[in-house]
Amino acid sequence: MAFQFGSAKLLNKILYAPLAGCSDLPFRKMARLYGPGIVYCEMVKIDALVRHDPHTYRLLDYEIGMHPIGAQLCGSKLALVGPAARIVEDLGFDVLDFNCGCPVDKVTKDGSGSGMLKTPELIGEMISEMVAAVKIPVTVKIRAGWDDDSINAVEITRIAEAAGAKVITIHGRTREQGYKGPANWDHIKHCKEAAKDILVVGNGDVFDAASALRMFAYTGCDAVLVSRGTMGQPWIAEDILRALEGLPPKERTIPDLKEALLQHFDYIVRYQPERQSLLDMRRVGCWYLKRLDGVKALRIQINRATSTTEVFSHIEQFPWETLQWAQEPAFTEAEC
Ligand SMILES: Cc1cc2nc3c(=O)[nH]c(=O)nc-3n(C[C@H](O)[C@H](O)[C@H](O)COP(=O)(O)O)c2cc1C
Repeated sequence: MAFQFGSAKLLNKILYAPLAGCSDLPFRKMARLYGPGIVYCEMVKIDALVRHDPHTYRLLDYEIGMHPIGAQLCGSKLALVGPAARIVEDLGFDVLDFNCGCPVDKVTKDGSGSGMLKTPELIGEMISEMVAAVKIPVTVKIRAGWDDDSINAVEITRIAEAAGAKVITIHGRTREQGYKGPANWDHIKHCKEAAKDILVVGNGDVFDAASALRMFAYTGCDAVLVSRGTMGQPWIAEDILRALEGLPPKERTIPDLKEALLQHFDYIVRYQPERQSLLDMRRVGCWYLKRLDGVKALRIQINRATSTTEVFSHIEQFPWETLQWAQEPAFTEAEC
């Protein structure tokens, strides 16, 4: 079940993705309770890291018990990527990933993130610089291609392998797709078929144990990276691992969800100042509460609360015994 590459020894092959604006320290503390192989910090910009921007360093905060832990760099400047990689290694990270998938315009406009998919040779050069700069394993995360007319994941898999990357993660959507429509797992399968030594991680649309098992079976991938499926269900790694071992599923009750929500909020208030905690509680609360029917009043109370103490007391006073699991998400994030 272990997943090993270079000096990294992950206990298993269920990995938790970098999620910008989401996979902060409280999120990763929560994730660690349920045994994923690794948890990633959100991507950080190479330029900001090398100019020692304090906000960027804070995104890389972690605690000793969080190992193995991964960092992810985003950028396109060849001269800066080696120094940035060394900073990540000096901070004690176990794995260094290179982001070639972020679809956001302000990231792609200088050729970073999924903009890198348009310059596959540069991906190889960036990886070579990182590999030469650090001892920890270098990995890369890509999308299937920029758009349907320029699918090049297999080509990039070969380039990344030649440049010394140990692992490549394929998100089976194009940049043009953003997050819309299903991920096409054929691209992951094709990359696995083309890979010689490089390990292939499948990513896209794994939201429960059944979809993770399907991903392994369909693509032959070496590991699965779970992204949105971790939001509001930090236990998904445990669910998948049990299924992989042929164990019966662990029942997740509504009291379990309430306890996890309170735990996550507790980690938030210990880490963030009051004002930021309130904002984070609204956002994170939405991930958990959208799994329940009959919870609208609580959601509104959390959104209107003016202190974190008030949020905790609303949760305690709410009649949780009246709630049911929702068949479909009870509301969208935009409604939070
Ligand atoms: C809010 C959000 C933030 C994300 N941030 C990152 C990031 O920092 N680095 C990265 O490589 N991918 C990032 N992604 C992409 C995911 O890791 C993943 O590739 C994508 O969501 C597809 O997987 P899924 O269908 O399982 O969610 C982000 C996705 C979302 C929704």
